[in-house]
Amino acid sequence: MLPRLAIVALGVFVMASPVLADVTGSKPFGKTADGTPVETYTLKNKNGVTVKLMTLGATVTEINVPDKKGKFANVVLGFDDVAGYQSDRNQYFGCTVGRVANRIAKGKFTLDGKEYKLAINNEPNHLHGGAKRSLDKVVWKGGILKFKDSNEAAVAFSYKSPDGEEGYPGAVTIGVVFSLNDKNELRIDYSAQTDKATLVNLTNHSYFNLAGAGADTVLDHDLKLEANDYVPVDKTLIPTGKLEPVKGTIFDFTKMGRIGERIEKLYDTGAKGYDHCYVLTKREPKPSTATLAARLLEPKSGRVLTVLTDQPGVQVYTGNFLFGQKGKDGKVYNQRSAICLETGGLPDAVNQPTFPSVILRPVETYRHTCVYKFSAE
Ligand code: GLA
Repeated sequence: MLPRLAIVALGVFVMASPVLADVTGSKPFGKTADGTPVETYTLKNKNGVTVKLMTLGATVTEINVPDKKGKFANVVLGFDDVAGYQSDRNQYFGCTVGRVANRIAKGKFTLDGKEYKLAINNEPNHLHGGAKRSLDKVVWKGGILKFKDSNEAAVAFSYKSPDGEEGYPGAVTIGVVFSLNDKNELRIDYSAQTDKATLVNLTNHSYFNLAGAGADTVLDHDLKLEANDYVPVDKTLIPTGKLEPVKGTIFDFTKMGRIGERIEKLYDTGAKGYDHCYVLTKREPKPSTATLAARLLEPKSGRVLTVLTDQPGVQVYTGNFLFGQKGKDGKVYNQRSAICLETGGLPDAVNQPTFPSVILRPVETYRHTCVYKFSAE
């Protein structure tokens, strides 16, 4: 069997027979406003954990996990239908973000001496790959993967982004494999190849509330981050260019701490809460070797989310721009009622010479692994 990433990078899927127990083949989920069919897939493991995925934006629409008493709940924000995902209530719920996640200052960058201008979709900057054809807004090709060497079930998405899409150079073939094993680990493997020098920094934008999606707040959750430094930003959330130690500051989550304990100090800033990239420590040099990045605990249910990645950073976003919009099952999503832990490169990296590069060249393959592991204690 070809290595997992090669299959996707080539955009070739091994269509396994639908009799697989732990993955449900594609099901129609409706159509986009322009009539493109959208499908869902469901991963299920022997513990009853289920993960629902959608071809629109290669999106996680549901994650059902047990609490310490074995009671299941969906812990990610989402919508009941395609229209919900295409409405302005949707703030990147569960989607694959790119070509470049996070912000690019003033929507401009220079690559190999040439200046590129991008959509300004988060005044005065560019956010999450653009306004119309960013990866969260396109319909991906989906397929089932079955690995001979493991009992993991997997769903693979692929998308070919043409040269110049959203202003980015190069035709890029992108793959994302979602796999679930019996250790309740949802693993996300990203890969990308380009025919011209370009920028790639992908992430998943799931919003978690471990008390159940739609619970009032996430400020009662505890968080620990494997990060001694974070990226300070200006009022438009663009990095100032230097890294700052977190020790003893309101950004210090080197020990398990209640998210809501000091957050109010950020309410009058452009971020309105935590919306900062943390620079992860102890990164393994080998790609696809995910190491501990974050731990999130909801004390009442006992649910825990452990995040592992091979990436340099994690954007911690406490849903500060949520506005009480109606979501899945009629739930209301209040401000700061969910948290995103977006693994990836650092914000505005293309314009920050000291930050790890997000440039991808034709000879290279972009790789990124993120693991969301669920448990209860
Ligand atoms: C990221 C950004 C936030 C916000 C959300 C989407 O997490 O860091 O500022 O834009 O996306 O709403």
